[in-house]
Amino acid sequence: MAQMTVTPWEVRGAIDYDRLIEIFGVKPLTDDLVKLTEKIAGENHLFLRRRVFYAHRDYDVFLKRYTEGGAVALYTGRGPSSRVHLGHLVPWIFTKWLQERLGLELYFQLTDDEKFLYHREYSLEHTNSMAYENLLDLIALGFDPSKTHVIVDSDDIALLYKIAVRVAKKITASVVKSVFGFTDSTNIGMYFFPSLQIAMCFLPSELRREVVLVLIPAAIDQDPYWRVARDIATSLGYPKPAQIHSKFLPGLGPEGKMSSSKPETAIYTTDPPEQVYRKIMNAFTSGQPTAAMQRKLGGNPDRCPVFAYYAMLFEEDDKKLEERYHRCRNGELLCGECKRELAERVAKFIEEHQRRRGKAKDIVESFLLRTKIRSRR
Ligand code: TRP
Repeated sequence: MAQMTVTPWEVRGAIDYDRLIEIFGVKPLTDDLVKLTEKIAGENHLFLRRRVFYAHRDYDVFLKRYTEGGAVALYTGRGPSSRVHLGHLVPWIFTKWLQERLGLELYFQLTDDEKFLYHREYSLEHTNSMAYENLLDLIALGFDPSKTHVIVDSDDIALLYKIAVRVAKKITASVVKSVFGFTDSTNIGMYFFPSLQIAMCFLPSELRREVVLVLIPAAIDQDPYWRVARDIATSLGYPKPAQIHSKFLPGLGPEGKMSSSKPETAIYTTDPPEQVYRKIMNAFTSGQPTAAMQRKLGGNPDRCPVFAYYAMLFEEDDKKLEERYHRCRNGELLCGECKRELAERVAKFIEEHQRRRGKAKDIVESFLLRTKIRSRR
């Protein structure tokens, strides 16, 4: 098994999620918190009951403040390095659900600057245009434009800068070196960038001129930013941001998360549905080399990306999921059939997403924070 690496810029190897809880010092999401969410939202979500979202910091504090009528908001974001794939949608789908069920404002940050600074090969024009491309995917998920406020770092820096410099003054080079692993050959843009991702935690408080507690639904690799944010929040007069952390959607290969660095193992939202179908039919599974052996020995759904897709996104019904699990284990369900069913569901999902994404172009402006602020003046 390849060694596990989990940083905001690189996720590699077989991921041990319990270990991450220990390394990052976050808390596991308890049954009580899942039940409380269900009660408040009036509905369960499979991401919670199946622990796709599985860890947190102060999620309990956030829910308490929400139920007491205190000021709260959601914050999440995207580093627009390339096209959006299914894995990116996981935190967004959950954020959309929270927005809808709890009636919350969402602040969404597109960090074109971060991706430009990190990737040697990308121009700022590329990451900036990707930001607006990726925004179409966000809109396609059905976020409420009146409650969803998007900023693109390089175009909207004025909205963040005054907070960011105050944040930056609190963070030393030695802190970012140890938290993010920066070295003396890391460019200085990267050294400043965390101030922008952190500043966004405090933007709702500034805009609304009250103390707003933000909850950040995001994949767990973003946690290092939030550690630093929480360390300095109080000294700047802001509440510590709360987090709810998700696991990664696995890639279609034998190991690791869905990743743009391995395009054949990722399903992009803009892939033609036939290609989506083909990618899934070519996926790695935990099956045996021959059908006869599969019938005799069964497969291993616990280590199979195809099963993970059913569990994380494409099988809502708990009983059907369990049946699939057992039929795989006892050799009744062969991988070809299991993949074909999944391929159909995913291709259909992508087709619908593309239809909504096509319409999103017309309403981009209504999501941009700068447009809203301008028209308020
Ligand atoms: N750094 C994130 C990325 O590379 C982008 C991002 C900015 C983000 N703010 C966020 C992600 C808040 C999650 C939550 O994708």
